[in-house]
Amino acid sequence: LRPIPLIAGNWKMNGVTAALAEAEALATLVATHGVARGGEVALCPPATLLMAMRERLGRSGIATGGQDCHARASGAHTGDISAAMLKDAGARFVIVGHSERRADHGETDEAVREKAAAAVATDLIPIVCVGETESQRLSGEAVRVVERQLDGSIPDGVPTEGIVIAYEPVWAIGTGLTPTLADIAEMHEAIRRRLVERFGEGGHSVRILYGGSLKPGNAREILAVDNVDGGLVGGASLLAKDFFAIISAL
Ligand code: G3H
Repeated sequence: LRPIPLIAGNWKMNGVTAALAEAEALATLVATHGVARGGEVALCPPATLLMAMRERLGRSGIATGGQDCHARASGAHTGDISAAMLKDAGARFVIVGHSERRADHGETDEAVREKAAAAVATDLIPIVCVGETESQRLSGEAVRVVERQLDGSIPDGVPTEGIVIAYEPVWAIGTGLTPTLADIAEMHEAIRRRLVERFGEGGHSVRILYGGSLKPGNAREILAVDNVDGGLVGGASLLAKDFFAIISAL
């Protein structure tokens, strides 16, 4: 039994108010055509757009999410945003530990785990990102690296339906490159195995998304791979037409 699939769009540091027209167009497409397999859809814009986007998405059923949160609930942390603030802005999800945050801000597995715990405590669903670099893939360490990230980045005692894992090979992000379907299948199976080892049967209900150059042209075959329960989409989530084509490939 596969968990309810999720397609989440990560706008990264793209989008000003004018871009909300794309969110509105997406809402119309989803409201008109629905989402295959009862799937869920989410958009994670820059924090400045969260409230306005929530309004524009209206009752389309599309959720919103943040791209990061602080581990603490409030306090002297200039420039940071708490999970409760995201929740207050209407978010249902928050991406934590994206490889760009791990690289740009030196986020460790431990930091990511604390952020994920803060999200769960606030009733947000963390989308915990893991993935190997190109050199780790080439040296045959990919599975070991991802297992270590999973062990370190997921808090204990989380409800398994209340967390999402996104496997994003760093070398596939924004490059147009993707792993072979066999490599995706191998990694997602390894992730599932690790989750079941740690959480027992509940490990089967954790959604495992694939991310990295997911496009309308490759979505159907990638989303059909065993243990791929949806996708985390960067560039192709910025245009309603492209993002909806990926949603339609579920
Ligand atoms: O969070 C999304 C990923 O980093 C994928 O980005 O679809 O532009 O390769 P991309």
